[in-house]
Amino acid sequence: MIGQIGQSLDGRTATRTGHSHYINGPEGLAHLHRLRALVDAVVIGVGTAIADDPQLTVRRVAGPNPARVVIDPNGRLPVAARCLANDGVRRMVIGSRNVTSELPRGIERIALPVSEGNIAPADIVAALADAGLRRILIEGGANTVSRFLAAGCLDRLHIVVAPVIIGDGPTGISLPPIDTLAEAHRPHVRAHMLGDEVLFDCSLMSQRRPGVAKKST
Ligand SMILES: NC(=O)c1ccc[n+]([C@@H]2O[C@H](COP(=O)([O-])OP(=O)(O)OC[C@H]3O[C@@H](n4cnc5c(N)ncnc54)[C@H](OP(=O)(O)O)[C@@H]3O)[C@@H](O)[C@H]2O)c1
Repeated sequence: MIGQIGQSLDGRTATRTGHSHYINGPEGLAHLHRLRALVDAVVIGVGTAIADDPQLTVRRVAGPNPARVVIDPNGRLPVAARCLANDGVRRMVIGSRNVTSELPRGIERIALPVSEGNIAPADIVAALADAGLRRILIEGGANTVSRFLAAGCLDRLHIVVAPVIIGDGPTGISLPPIDTLAEAHRPHVRAHMLGDEVLFDCSLMSQRRPGVAKKST
């Protein structure tokens, strides 16, 4: 389980209007496509599907396209979303047991319990594993990645910081508040240059909650 976020020097993931194409440059984007090529499935929240309408395919490097999964508890995903296009890979929508929405033929639907607006990330991980998908990239947005991090469901987090200052707009990871720095996540981090961007490869294995989710294999 790996999460990724591309952000600016001031920690923004988009402008106030939701424009995020592209914070990261060609090398950061190639890294993202490399991650896509390495996983069984790429997962996004419905906010990203609506704002960016991403294809979620591997185009900047050689490699196979992963299955595409959208978390959409309220049935907001447009049927014309590009990630639902039938190009031979599995496409799934993870929704609520209480909400049904119209989806094009061939889309797999996974209905899970929702509690206070949240589908437990561990339930999502388990459902994807049951569907044969174990190596998972949580590609965004920050809301979705934050939920998986807060639930202790990520092994790694890749934060790619681009040399741009946006000054306003949504920020990256956002977690339940803590009072002291002793409670902060302190992952083991390795930094790599991707052109003029910096990839922070954060290992979260020691913080992964035991028994909450299956480890990627
Ligand atoms: N810089 C980057 O790396 C990057 C990557 C992707 C997107 N973006 C930008 O980020 C913005 C969108 O991201 P976002 O953070 O606002 O939204 P998001 O993470 O794409 O989607 C969040 C929504 O997905 C649903 N969701 C996700 N996980 C859930 C869970 N465990 N349980 C229940 N519902 C869940 C909820 O839908 P409901 O609201 O229906 O409850 C939630 O509000 C856009 O502006 C996009 O351009 C940036």
